[in-house]
Amino acid sequence: MLKIAIFNFKGGTGKSTTALNLGACLATSKRKVLLIDLDGQRTLSFGLGLDGDVPTALNWLSGGEIQPVETKTKNLWLIPGDLGMFQLEADADLFTPALAKLNRFEICLMDCSPGLGVSSVQAILSSDRILIPVICEPAVLKGLSEAVQLIREERPNVPVDVVRVRYRPRLVITKESEDLLTEAARRVRNIPLKLVKFARDKIALFLSNWLINFLN
Ligand SMILES: Nc1ncnc2c1ncn2[C@@H]1O[C@H](COP(=O)(O)OP(=O)(O)OP(=O)(O)O)[C@@H](O)[C@H]1O
Ligand SMILES: [Mg+2]
Repeated sequence: MLKIAIFNFKGGTGKSTTALNLGACLATSKRKVLLIDLDGQRTLSFGLGLDGDVPTALNWLSGGEIQPVETKTKNLWLIPGDLGMFQLEADADLFTPALAKLNRFEICLMDCSPGLGVSSVQAILSSDRILIPVICEPAVLKGLSEAVQLIREERPNVPVDVVRVRYRPRLVITKESEDLLTEAARRVRNIPLKLVKFARDKIALFLSNWLINFLN
C-alpha cells in the first residue's frame, strides 16, 4: 500500500480538498483507495457526508479493530475523523502497526491537521511520500522551506511534492509567490522537492495519473 501524508503547517491550504478530489480520482481509475481523516475539524469526513457515530481514526490509532466506511464512490473508503484527535498523545509509533492492518488497499491518503500535532508527525514518519498543497500567497509560502527542512531532519530521503492550489497566474500576488517558492525550493536543496503547478480542476486528475506510476 502506497501511503501519502497530505500535510502543511499552515491551515486552509487545500489539504482536505486535495485528499478528497485525489482520492475520488484514483478510485475512479479503479484503484482501491483509503482516505484517513486525521483532523479533528473533520472537513474530509463532512465532505464525504460521513461524520456520524462510527469508529474513527482515533479508535483505529488506539488499537481498535476498524472497518473503514464505504463511501458513495466505488473503491473509495474512509476512516472518519474524530474531534478528540486534538488530544492524541503517544510515546510509541501508533501508525506503523495500525497501517499494517489495512494492506488490502492500494493507496492511502492521510489528511493531516494543520500544525505539527502527534498525528501529523507520525503520519509524516510512516508515509512513503509527502504531498504539501500550497496557496500562492506569500504568507503561506513563508513557512514552506522550514516545514520541508523539519521533515528532512526525520526523513532525509522521503519524496516531498509541493502542489500549488488555487493558482491564479494573472495576480501580482501569484508572481510574488512564485519567487518565494523558487527560493524555498533552492534552500531545500535536498532533492526531491517537486513543484507541481496546475490550475483548479486539473490538479486531482494530474496527481492521480502521476501517482499511479508509484503503485505496484
Ligand atoms: N484546488 C482547489 N481549487 C479551488 N479551491 C480550492 C482548492 N483546494 C482547496 N480549495 C479551497 O480552499 C479552502 C481551504 O481548503 P481545505 O479545507 O481543503 O484546506 P485545508 O488545508 O484542509 O484546511 P485546514 O488546514 O483547516 O485543514 C476551501 O474553501 C476550499 O474549497
Ligand atoms: Mg483540512
